Amino acid sequence: MAGGEITVSNFKPELVTLDLKTYVMQPFRRGKQIKLSDLKEYFSDPEAADQILSEGKNPIIYEYYEYATPEAEGHLTFGVTTIYLGKVGKEYYMTRGHYHDKDAAEIYIGLSGRGLLLMQTKEGEAVYLDLKPGGIGYVPPGWGHRTINTSGEKLVFFFIYPSDAGHDYELVKERGFAKIVIEENGVPKVVDNPRF
Ligand code: PA5
Ligand code: MN
Repeated sequence: MAGGEITVSNFKPELVTLDLKTYVMQPFRRGKQIKLSDLKEYFSDPEAADQILSEGKNPIIYEYYEYATPEAEGHLTFGVTTIYLGKVGKEYYMTRGHYHDKDAAEIYIGLSGRGLLLMQTKEGEAVYLDLKPGGIGYVPPGWGHRTINTSGEKLVFFFIYPSDAGHDYELVKERGFAKIVIEENGVPKVVDNPRF
């Protein structure tokens, strides 16, 4: 279905293929790249981000490609996220993170690389799971979620969520997450976020 708005009435099933070597999903209908300049205030050390930017670098932190279905009740949206490898100061590259507007769950399936799926309730209870190939993380309704690449390679995972879930980025923008993931003595460590 090339071009045009995808609606409940014009949507037709078609085969989608995920290349299990390159993790390229075809077709995809929405893709987004998030660069350091888009994310700098989300890192616990924004000065480290400024330093990188001042050197004329603006690396891609992560990108995702979604097979977009109608944003309607009953439909599911799925796709692939890749978090590149790197750190800002001591903190590993990560996604912005969000809550869903609706009480909607989400499933993450690790495909390549290793990382953490960090989740928290609005009351601040935090849980984190290892995200590795074949690892499945279930994000319950109401839990904010962010993924972090703690490995020496790209972290790639598949996600599925209800198409009408909606994304609330405001709470994360204001308060961040209760935990941050940093490298200490060469290994990943989950520590309290001093700014939370
Ligand atoms: O809905 C999800 O949780 C994922 O599709 C994410 O949107 C994706 O990994 C990018 O993260 P964020 O939306 O926090 O930028
Ligand atoms: Mn989500």
